[in-house]
Amino acid sequence: MNMLIKVRKPLDLTESDVTDQAIYKERRKFIKNSASLAAMSLAPSFAMWPAIGAANINFENISKSEYSTNDELTPFDAITSYNNFYELGLDKGDPKRNAHHLKVKPWSVLVTGECEETGEFDLEDFISPAKLEERIYRLRCVEAWSMVIPWVGIELGPILKKFKPTSKAKYVEFKTILDPENLPGQKRNVLDWPYREGLRIDEAMHPLTILAVGLYGKKLPNQNGAPLRLVVPWKYGFKSIKSIVSINFLEEQPATSWNLAGPKEYGFYSNVNPEVDHPRWSQKRERRIGEFLKRETLPFNGYADQVASLYTGMDLKQNF
Ligand code: MTE
Repeated sequence: MNMLIKVRKPLDLTESDVTDQAIYKERRKFIKNSASLAAMSLAPSFAMWPAIGAANINFENISKSEYSTNDELTPFDAITSYNNFYELGLDKGDPKRNAHHLKVKPWSVLVTGECEETGEFDLEDFISPAKLEERIYRLRCVEAWSMVIPWVGIELGPILKKFKPTSKAKYVEFKTILDPENLPGQKRNVLDWPYREGLRIDEAMHPLTILAVGLYGKKLPNQNGAPLRLVVPWKYGFKSIKSIVSINFLEEQPATSWNLAGPKEYGFYSNVNPEVDHPRWSQKRERRIGEFLKRETLPFNGYADQVASLYTGMDLKQNF
């Protein structure tokens, strides 16, 4: 990660970034209005939306969520051109530049381990019949920058329950696609591929934990982890693993890529915590992309009310 290699300049925003955001706000207003029109049994028109959607994933009736933040959205251009996705390169602009190397069709997810229903599922079957929701979340990278992203996704918990985890399922492990022939980053030894992440089962089942299939109302750009990625908003961004091809229920805590690469720097929990500095930099403050001055980092990235109780009795300095 650049966190290991070099510190980069924050992204410079252009006028078009700002325009994007303004258009999006207008759309959100429009959708609200459309919803009330629908209630009066007039056909809602989504004609002004761009042509969107993976094969059978319906991006047209995305519901709002009480879990969304009111923080100002980061512009689409910034969210999709300032990325960490090491499979597509190490610099922030590489994932967008190399996005075409990621082949997302067809896509399936392999479910294994401590659950009754194992198997390989086409993406559409894996998601269905879930209804998509918009979740506007803060994303705080361990490198001390942050964004506000309007994800489109579904809660992970109900999806996991469909596979009937056994009483031995204490952790969930996720893996990213392994495709060194196509993914330029996987030809290099920066991480032990495939990228792996894991959560305790109660973290995975928490209603804030989602699988995202889109952002800004349309399907995920490849550089953001298409077609399916995890989003855990109270943890550092590297826990939010991209382009997931397998989910494994485990009794023991799984090894995770960044923890293997730097166990003293990247803990298994990696909850956002301004009180625990990274060994090489402070985690007290962060640069919100698009803002000039740094802002305070909040415990659990501002989601403490919802998630702090998951860690009652744990020493979060030891279990960082
Ligand atoms: N997932 C994979 N497979 N490979 C990666 O390099 N980078 C992580 C995370 N998920 C990464 C990944 C890091 S460090 C961050 S901050 C977020 O993705 C960035 O997500 P974004 O590019 O959509 O903002």
